[in-house]
Amino acid sequence: MLFDTHAHYDDARFDSDRDLLLSSMPENHVGLILNPGCDIASSKQAISYAEKFPFVYAAVGIHPENIEGVDLEQDMPILEALAVSSPRVRAIGEIGLDYYWMKEPDARRFQAEVFRAQMRLAGRLGLPVIVHDREAHLDSLTIVEQYPKVHGVFHCYSGSAEFAARLLELGYYLSFTGVITYKNAKKAAEVVRAVPLDRLMIETDAPYMAPEPFRGKRNSSLYVYRMAEAIAEIKGLPLEQVIRQTTENGKTLFGISA
Ligand code: NI
Repeated sequence: MLFDTHAHYDDARFDSDRDLLLSSMPENHVGLILNPGCDIASSKQAISYAEKFPFVYAAVGIHPENIEGVDLEQDMPILEALAVSSPRVRAIGEIGLDYYWMKEPDARRFQAEVFRAQMRLAGRLGLPVIVHDREAHLDSLTIVEQYPKVHGVFHCYSGSAEFAARLLELGYYLSFTGVITYKNAKKAAEVVRAVPLDRLMIETDAPYMAPEPFRGKRNSSLYVYRMAEAIAEIKGLPLEQVIRQTTENGKTLFGISA
C-alpha cells in the first residue's frame, strides 16, 4: 500500500473529476494521501476531502508563496481553529521559505515571520510540520533549528546530502517527488543514496511535478509508485520494502494507525 504524503486536490485541475479520481485510489494501491493546505481556503478544502474519504488526511498552513495579504494577528487564530477543528488534521503545512519566487528582502523577511508563527503553532499543538524550502536552505535550517521540539518533513527535497544530514539529526524526514525520476537528477539521487530508508517519504506534489514517463501531464497520486520505484532502483532495494517502509514512515510522522 502506497502513501502519497503530499498532493493538492484543491487545485482547479481536479475540478472535473476530483471525487471520481480520489475514489479510485484504494483499488490502485494508494492507501493513504495527505493533502496540505497553502492558505486558509485550501486548508478548509483539505479538511473537507479528509472528512469525505477515510484514506485522506489534511494539513493546514500558509505557503510561502501565498503570504500576500496575510495578517498574522487575524489569520493565525483562524489557522489554529482549523487545525483543532478535525481529528483528520495531522500537520501544519505547507510552510517555509521560497526564495525562487520571492526576491524582495522585505517579502523574504515576512515569509520568515509567517514561517516562525506556524512553527510556534505546530509546537503548541504538538503537530509535525511540512516544510517547503526552495532555494532557501540555510535560512530554513536556521528557523527549524530554533524549534527543536517540532519535527516534520522537508517536502520535495532539493538540498545537498550535507544539508540532509543536518536535518536528519534534527529528526526530520525527507520526501521526494517526480524529480528523482528525471534523468538529470544526480543530486537528488545522491541524497536518496545517503539517507536511510526509515527517514524517506514519497509524494507526488500533484498536480505538479509528474514523474517520468508522465512528465508534463497532470500529476496525481496514481503515479506515486514511480517514486518508490526510483528509490528502490537508486538504493538497490526490493520495491516492496521501499513501499512498506515509506508508508510506515508517513504513518509514524502523521500519527496514523490504520
Ligand atoms: Ni506542495
